[in-house]
Amino acid sequence: MINRMNSIKISKAGRLFILLILLQLTSSNLYAQNLLIPIETIHNALVLQVENNKDLNIVYFGKKLASSTEYNKIAAMYKQTGDYTGQLNSAYTPAGSRNLVEPAVAVTHADGNNSLDLRYLSHTNNKLNENVSLLSIRLKDPVYNFEVTLFYKSYFKEDVIEQWTEIKHTEKGSVVLQKFASANLHLKAGSFYLNQYHGDWAKEMQPEESKLSHGIKTLDSKLGTRANLFQPSVFMISMDKPATEDEGSVLYGAMEWSGNFKIDLELDYQDNLRIIAGMNNYASPYTLKPNEIFSTPAFLYTFSTSGKGDASRKLQSWARNYKLLDGKGTRLTLLNNWEATYFDFNEQKLAELLKDTKKLGVDFFLLDDGWFGNKYPRNDDHAGLGDWQENKKKLPNGISSLVKEAQNVGTKFGIWIEPEMVNPKSELYEKHPDWVIKQPKRDEYYFRNQLVLDLSNPKVQDFVYGIVDGLFTKNPTLAYIKWDCNAVIYNAYSSHLKNQSHFYIEYVKGLYKVLEKIRAKYPKVPMMLCSGGGGRVDYAALQYFTEFWPSDNTDPLERVFMQWEYSYFYPAISSSNHVTDWGKQPIKFRTDVAMMGKLGFDIVVSKLGENDLKFCQEAIKTYDAVKPIIWQGDQYRLSDPKENSVASIAYINEAKSAGIIFNYLVNYRYGAKSTQPIRLKGLDPNKKYTIKEINLYPGTNSSLDGAKGYSGDFLMKIGFNPDVNSGRSSVILKIEESK
Ligand code: GLA
Repeated sequence: MINRMNSIKISKAGRLFILLILLQLTSSNLYAQNLLIPIETIHNALVLQVENNKDLNIVYFGKKLASSTEYNKIAAMYKQTGDYTGQLNSAYTPAGSRNLVEPAVAVTHADGNNSLDLRYLSHTNNKLNENVSLLSIRLKDPVYNFEVTLFYKSYFKEDVIEQWTEIKHTEKGSVVLQKFASANLHLKAGSFYLNQYHGDWAKEMQPEESKLSHGIKTLDSKLGTRANLFQPSVFMISMDKPATEDEGSVLYGAMEWSGNFKIDLELDYQDNLRIIAGMNNYASPYTLKPNEIFSTPAFLYTFSTSGKGDASRKLQSWARNYKLLDGKGTRLTLLNNWEATYFDFNEQKLAELLKDTKKLGVDFFLLDDGWFGNKYPRNDDHAGLGDWQENKKKLPNGISSLVKEAQNVGTKFGIWIEPEMVNPKSELYEKHPDWVIKQPKRDEYYFRNQLVLDLSNPKVQDFVYGIVDGLFTKNPTLAYIKWDCNAVIYNAYSSHLKNQSHFYIEYVKGLYKVLEKIRAKYPKVPMMLCSGGGGRVDYAALQYFTEFWPSDNTDPLERVFMQWEYSYFYPAISSSNHVTDWGKQPIKFRTDVAMMGKLGFDIVVSKLGENDLKFCQEAIKTYDAVKPIIWQGDQYRLSDPKENSVASIAYINEAKSAGIIFNYLVNYRYGAKSTQPIRLKGLDPNKKYTIKEINLYPGTNSSLDGAKGYSGDFLMKIGFNPDVNSGRSSVILKIEESK
């Protein structure tokens, strides 16, 4: 029978037909196996694909398609050189098997083997609410009991994705994680332009743009804490051409991690860009026990095809809605004594400053550094850090009496601490040398005469928590905390940890544990994230802080530039801007610049001339009236100080019925002024508006006619001239719909 079947002759045409059927079967099979997992937000899509062999690759990142059935046609449109590994576009590139490029994850298994392969197991997509979805994808090594779960939390309206991973295993012994990225992206474009930042004390957020060439460009930090001092983890990648404010495709990336980070931007041999971002694995191979879960922090990104301005508005609104502590709430204006007194004050002086706070009209007084330490008084920055008891000479009646005194004069009281730090000249250092980060066999090396406490140690965590808790317990009406962090970590070593390779990671996790505990008990008390100037802000920290200190450099001219750059990533409500005596600009210019975020003062009020004082008092009232627009409005950068003599930035409310426009002269050469009208953005073309100058210095009149009406159409096509010149170097405009 079988023989007879075998002997049946099939015609040539029949054979062709069967071949076609077979081919079709395999290709539909292929299609069925090539599962697509699109992560879509309102405008964009990140499309993952499960290959036949269960590799998980990225097949698309960009503007989303009208029909998701077409994502599987994209790959065929690219005729780039071959991929020798099948995983150049891996969604999470494992090291040591087929991979030939920078990995996202590298491990040494319990048996000493260094190879890893990760294949798709399953995925689940949970809609957390109307706007937020969480996709998780399980990957597993086919040979080892080693698993990675990739998480993608997407925010639909804001076009934002937060991505992180969890790593675990059930091998017969510990596994060492050599590299552990949070995310691995793969972008296709003709060329890529990186906009990155660098800096130092008083020079934070200096932008630099360059075309990426083949190979790896790394943005990283190895400072341990205040990790962003030389280089923050925020960056932009423009695709095909450098994006401008309103044009071009641009991705913003940022690590939500307050310690060492590493972001590799690899332009591979196929001309695609691989982005691998996570905690820095520098000096940090991590030993993971069976069944233990290693979670990476999130890498955050947004993408726009309408330029940098659109991307920043998405990020700002995401931050206010979902990340920044009390992002939709309010903030307090303040008078700080740092530059007014430095370490030189006593109860009497502070009592005067409390009165000045009231006179000025801000919400509270902030007592800065220098209030503590007795055996080693904090009279300069060489001693006292760690000894958080009131200095008896300066404050014989303690902080409590100051808090009460503030109440008596009708203001509030806030205080500065730097709880993660210790001066070698301190009782804390004498009592607990084992709480200090330092190498046992090496000389100590200092940053601002101080060392960092070992937050990987739970006892130190309790101590740091106790500083804050103690202050609030003794002074329940304490209104505010400025949390400083002035040193980096040298000689990284913890006498608490058995495995020193865990130090950098455990330090930051310890810090978060403390902050978590503080926020559990004091959910909304405003706290400023400060770090000897900037150098510490990121979105993991901002879950616990209401605001950050961008820089000790408060020269308003410098600030126009610096705040401009910060604003791409952080909303105005989070930016603490103080009026100080830095710079040569008049008080109006200094105040106007500080009003672009969260306003504060650090000046000697009693030394202000009559008109200067009057101006400041009025400015605070003006600010109080318009701050909801600045804090919650959409921000539009109108004229770039790097390119023009006049900088201009606008905040427009959601209803497009009101806005505030800040304008500054940034070029002091002869004749520099606003020669051209400045085009507005974000208005309703069909609405009618009036534009009035506000925050005028006493005795001056505006050169602008505030009664004239303009259509939104006119203001966005032609613009408006704020009449900025050397006699009017700072001009604030209020735009309002006229009905
Ligand atoms: C840092 C801060 C300043 C001030 C000093 C106090 O430099 O950035 O604002 O608080 O510490 O020592």
